[in-house]
Amino acid sequence: MTTEYGKISKITTHVLQEMKLRGRKIAMLTAYDFSFAKILDAAEIDVILVGDSASNVMAGHTSTLPITLDQMIYHAASVMRGVSRALVVVDLPFGTYQGNSKNALFSAIRIMKESGADAVKMEGGSEIIESVERILSAGIPVMGHLGLTPQSIHKFGTYVVRATEEKEALKLREDARLLDEAGCFGIVLEKIPAKLAGIVTHEVKAPTIGIGAGSEVDGQVLVLHDMLGINTDFSPRFLRRYHNLNEEVRGAVLSYIRDVKAKDFPNKKEQY
Ligand code: KIV
Repeated sequence: MTTEYGKISKITTHVLQEMKLRGRKIAMLTAYDFSFAKILDAAEIDVILVGDSASNVMAGHTSTLPITLDQMIYHAASVMRGVSRALVVVDLPFGTYQGNSKNALFSAIRIMKESGADAVKMEGGSEIIESVERILSAGIPVMGHLGLTPQSIHKFGTYVVRATEEKEALKLREDARLLDEAGCFGIVLEKIPAKLAGIVTHEVKAPTIGIGAGSEVDGQVLVLHDMLGINTDFSPRFLRRYHNLNEEVRGAVLSYIRDVKAKDFPNKKEQY
């Protein structure tokens, strides 16, 4: 991105705030490993999220709950080795911040020290505000996450659109206000009505990043494996697929198998 200050060599939370003020949209994607992170960074993605969706797309679990702090740190450190420009945000995994703000700070410090990432993300509003404040007070930037919060799937029981009822919508707006006033540098809004996401976006100073939250937000995030079409089992309305990598990879693997079996690989030029 080029601004009046020239080309930006490192995206910071301050840059994201500037982008909101200037009406420039923020592009965020997930990554969990060095190779993809390097491609995303070279393409000048603004924010890379080392999401706990790694639990699903990397480890094959059916929810985000099983992934551990050590595993998140492993993914985050791998991503950091491929990134020089993007802001890297790491999810605090389930069980490492809820209910005890000292544990929350300890978990956040481990992520920052052991991976070298730029910030952490946490799901929830008033229920976790003490943890958010304690982490922020240690100088660690925090991104909030409201609406559909996958770590609470057993409480909600379903992945349907959240905050369609007045009461839940009001609670979400109040939670966004709390996170904003606490000093979160961004808030992910997942799977909520577009109108509500637009209202929240105007009510808070922090940039809002939507996933299934319409266009009236300050930026968008998608899970990399979903938008690349690696994972084809998941097709919510909000997901735009930019590629069909599943078919491409399968095609390449089939060609390789065929060449090996036909003794066509390696050929004379491919050996010593
Ligand atoms: O873990 C994740 O990938 C996320 C995004 C869906 C926002 O939290």
